[in-house]
Amino acid sequence: GDAAHIHDVDFSFEGPFGSFDQHQLQRGMQVYQEVCSACHGLRQVAFRTLGDEGGPHLTEDQVKAFAALYEVFDPELDDTRAAIPSDKFPRSGVENAPDLSLMAKARAGFHGPAGLGINQIVKGMGGPEYIVAILTSYTGEEKTQAGTTLYENTAFPGGWIAMAPPLADDQVEFADGHDASAHHMAEDTAAFLMWAAEPKMMARKWTGLLSVGFLALLTVLLYLTNKKLWAPHK
Ligand code: HEM
Repeated sequence: GDAAHIHDVDFSFEGPFGSFDQHQLQRGMQVYQEVCSACHGLRQVAFRTLGDEGGPHLTEDQVKAFAALYEVFDPELDDTRAAIPSDKFPRSGVENAPDLSLMAKARAGFHGPAGLGINQIVKGMGGPEYIVAILTSYTGEEKTQAGTTLYENTAFPGGWIAMAPPLADDQVEFADGHDASAHHMAEDTAAFLMWAAEPKMMARKWTGLLSVGFLALLTVLLYLTNKKLWAPHK
């Protein structure tokens, strides 16, 4: 892919102390529900996790109401019914639209220089930035190839994507009144998809910090022990 068109975004969840912004996740969830889920699935994500702390953190009633917006197939009923919190989001309804559960980790936005991965150490892997770029890099050109309409998109490898531009300014009216330019919606959706792909990111960072803290403490104690043990022999 051509990484030149993918711009870094200062997401709240980046860096060793970063955390998801609950309000941003709720906005992204709204865009996912109103726009993306018409074609894409999120089949590895259970509705009940929308109530988890560190995520969108909906109340129990909000989770129930949100789940009920979806229909799922129940093998016991041999029929579809409204989803409940223990269900997972439905799979993609459009055959060639990929499932988005792990998309934020499956794609990398940053490479190089010279494939060294230096950018990735500094800016992160760029999965969410790639999603923002895909949603905002349409040129307006389209062509038909083998019966399929393709849209020119400078962030998509090959330059032509089979997804029509999904976002237009003010397409969604955010419950929190936040600005709904296409660019903001793209960032909010990318943040939501990052949470979907890695809901335990905060816990993982905390564990890492705690381990580094204990190792630092151990280093100090060993240093002092070493001094004390060898003091009589010096
Ligand atoms: C592909 C995101 C809405 C149809 C993709 C890809 C992403 C994505 C990340 C994958 C690009 C890749 O493979 O690297 C989104 C988001 C949406 C959205 C976040 C909502 C804001 C839609 C809608 C439709 C759709 C509404 C159908 C009308 C497709 C299709 C592809 C695709 C068919 C495959 C394109 C190809 O491989 O050429 N989408 N999408 N998407 N999307 Fe969407």
